[in-house]
Amino acid sequence: MKRYMIVFLCVAALTFCASQVFAGAAPGTGIVGSKHDMNVVPGATPDPQNRVCAFCHTPHHALDDASADYLPLWSHELTSLTFTDYDSITFDGGGSMAADSLIGPSRLCMSCHDGAVAVDQHYGQPGGLVRSGDSWGEIGVGAGGDLSNDHPIGFDYTEVTTVDDEIRMATTPVANPNVDSITDLLWDDQWMTCSSCHDVHNTDANEDYFLYGPQANSDFCLICHDK
Ligand code: HEC
Ligand code: HEC
Ligand code: HEC
Ligand code: HEC
Repeated sequence: MKRYMIVFLCVAALTFCASQVFAGAAPGTGIVGSKHDMNVVPGATPDPQNRVCAFCHTPHHALDDASADYLPLWSHELTSLTFTDYDSITFDGGGSMAADSLIGPSRLCMSCHDGAVAVDQHYGQPGGLVRSGDSWGEIGVGAGGDLSNDHPIGFDYTEVTTVDDEIRMATTPVANPNVDSITDLLWDDQWMTCSSCHDVHNTDANEDYFLYGPQANSDFCLICHDK
């Protein structure tokens, strides 16, 4: 009995540690070993050849789907959910929303972060790991098709700067070696998307979360907000 108890405690401790330990490769070191390397994401089934790009891209037989305007040789099942967008009485982007609020790369992000498509699905093979939690520390930010509790995307940033004096002009320089100005963060030099804040390939040596700027002192938010 005692021995079982010890085994149980060890397993529990290991599970706890495993869930705490996965930090991914350091910021700026690329996608291998990062939180976007499905081969090392806990619970995901690795690619048989440990290919990294394959979970998102393929050189051939890529997805061809009219519901997405941007499919960079995409190998991963797309989300089938429809999404509720952020809104508030003071939100200045509401009048310039794109017809598709998942314009640009955002639909690609939602194909793992919608809490419905398995993150390890690729190359037409089924995956097994769905990450559906929408609370702090969880990645299902659009779970259930709900983006209403997330920073707004899918609106025209440049339009907002004409009505909101506390949003910086798109030409404002950004202190990041890979980015010249806010314009570089906008899809088609105009639209706010998930990729306006996150660098999916982990090429930026900033703080965690694949961000384009440091979280310290909220410098990241101040890239765009003049507050
Ligand atoms: C987790 C998914 C994911 C993985 C893994 C991934 N990419 Fe991407 N990739 C994206 C997304 C999403 C975009 C859309 C553009 C964006 O958000 O910056 C993209 C865009 C691209 C583009 C076109 C735009 C650009 O930045 O030049 C290239 C080229 C590319 N990826 C290459 C790669 C290579 C090579 C690998 C493997 C080393 C890789 N990607 C791994 C998600 C991924
Ligand atoms: C790439 C530019 C950019 C970054 C970075 C950014 N924001 Fe925003 N944010 C905007 C724009 C543009 C709007 C729409 C303008 C508005 O309504 O105030 C907005 C809207 C918002 C809103 C909703 C305002 C409303 O009236 O409902 C909040 C709150 C907000 N941002 C907070 C943040 C915080 C906190 C951060 C940092 C974690 C951040 N933003 C980072 C550009 C950005
Ligand atoms: C192939 C699936 C897949 C795609 C596509 C994908 N992600 Fe992820 N992403 C994940 C998984 C899985 C994790 C969590 C890994 C972990 O912590 O176990 C993650 C984690 C993250 C994190 C948290 C990183 C951290 O340090 O905690 C952010 C931010 C993120 N993704 C943003 C994006 C954005 C933005 C896009 C689109 C440009 C995107 N992802 C596309 C699967 C994906
Ligand atoms: C305005 C900037 C901004 C936009 C736009 C944005 N994010 Fe984030 N995201 C952040 C920041 C900052 C964090 C770091 C967590 C924090 O500070 O609360 C984060 C964290 C995350 C996480 C990790 C959540 C957690 O609790 O571990 C995921 C996953 C994620 N973002 C995905 C996305 C996806 C998908 C989109 C598009 C629908 C998106 N983000 C759009 C700024 C943004």
